[in-house]
Amino acid sequence: MKLKSIWIETTTRCNLKCKSCGSLKGKEDIDLGLFNKIAEQCFSNIEEVNVTGVGEPTMTRNFIQIVLTIIEQYNKRLIIISHGMLLNRNSKLLDVLLNDNVHLTISVDGIGEIFEKIRFGAKWDAMLELFQKINQIKCKKELTQFTLGINFTLNTLNRECLPDIIRLSVEQWHIDYLHVILMQPWNLNMDFFKANSPMNSDEKTNDILEKSRLIALETGLNVIFPTTFDSKQSLILEKRLIRIRGWFRKIKSKLSNSKFKNIFYALPATIYIRHQTLYKIFYNLLRIKKKHCKVPEERLFFKINGEVTPCCGMQNYVLGSMNKQNLNDILSDKPYSNLINGFTKGYLPIECLRCHLPMGPNYGN
Ligand SMILES: C[S@@+](CC[C@H](N)C(=O)[O-])C[C@H]1O[C@@H](n2cnc3c(N)ncnc32)[C@H](O)[C@@H]1O
Ligand code: SF4
Repeated sequence: MKLKSIWIETTTRCNLKCKSCGSLKGKEDIDLGLFNKIAEQCFSNIEEVNVTGVGEPTMTRNFIQIVLTIIEQYNKRLIIISHGMLLNRNSKLLDVLLNDNVHLTISVDGIGEIFEKIRFGAKWDAMLELFQKINQIKCKKELTQFTLGINFTLNTLNRECLPDIIRLSVEQWHIDYLHVILMQPWNLNMDFFKANSPMNSDEKTNDILEKSRLIALETGLNVIFPTTFDSKQSLILEKRLIRIRGWFRKIKSKLSNSKFKNIFYALPATIYIRHQTLYKIFYNLLRIKKKHCKVPEERLFFKINGEVTPCCGMQNYVLGSMNKQNLNDILSDKPYSNLINGFTKGYLPIECLRCHLPMGPNYGN
């Protein structure tokens, strides 16, 4: 394995209630002993550290210390995705993050009222003020390698805002990258997802994406778009996946008080890691096309409880624990080699088939 990059989940807390977000939040921050162990065993070999997990990274206790360890002590590039609302209030943190070793992404899912409706708890005026401050400090510090990005999670409520987001990004916010993500059906957002999935009236979504592509070309903004919507293929897969999720939810709710609940949650991951033959039968039965992804060969995700998984989208695929093992033991153990074997053959876990990460199997264009 040649590790290039890792994710470290530094907190599971968040103070917003975004409608599209299905992340299972908690109340924890990373233990500094665990963070230091990951740093000692990993950082010297990698290029970048992404501190994004299910929560809001800027809420992490000791966050400045964590950031400085990454960008100053180890001289690594820090990637952070944030809702940005606390950066306005914490000028010390904003100053630390405005550094040539940082790529800061702010999530902006709309404009004005639509933004405030989706990102419940966030304020549009505060967002505008933040971009102004970032650009002022960037100029003052004469930064050349710092990069600023936007994540736009597209659904039917906000899709019409995308062309204006591109214009604002260029004309006022001086953004380096915009990443357009199709909203995913995550656990906690199923009702919002069903009502506002970008695949509802998919032709309209396609039109808006096409129009936005032209504006991106005109303005010269780097935009990572989702791969072109192949409506027939996507819808067939979508329906199958939603049906499978539906079965799972029903069985899960029946098991909610049972001692088998935890085993059931981890079942798909266990089948994938331990019983690849069953997984291949499943692929053949559902006539799912093989896909390839290099993420588990190049990256790892460290959960707040020390568990190590191959990717931020595969939280149940536990390969080991940094609280009990060293990284080398985890990487030379059976679960990791079995998992890589499945990936190399093109049998990706079901949740990976609709991956939205730019480095994943459905990479953007
Ligand atoms: C879970 S958040 C965590 C970081 C931070 N709290 C934030 O909101 O930027 C990471 C990214 O996931 C995006 N996101 C939220 N809900 C999503 C969904 N249902 N499908 C795809 N991306 C989603 C957010 O917009 C954000 O850019
Ligand atoms: S998307 Fe980010 S800011 Fe919004 S609720 Fe989820 S973790 Fe919090």
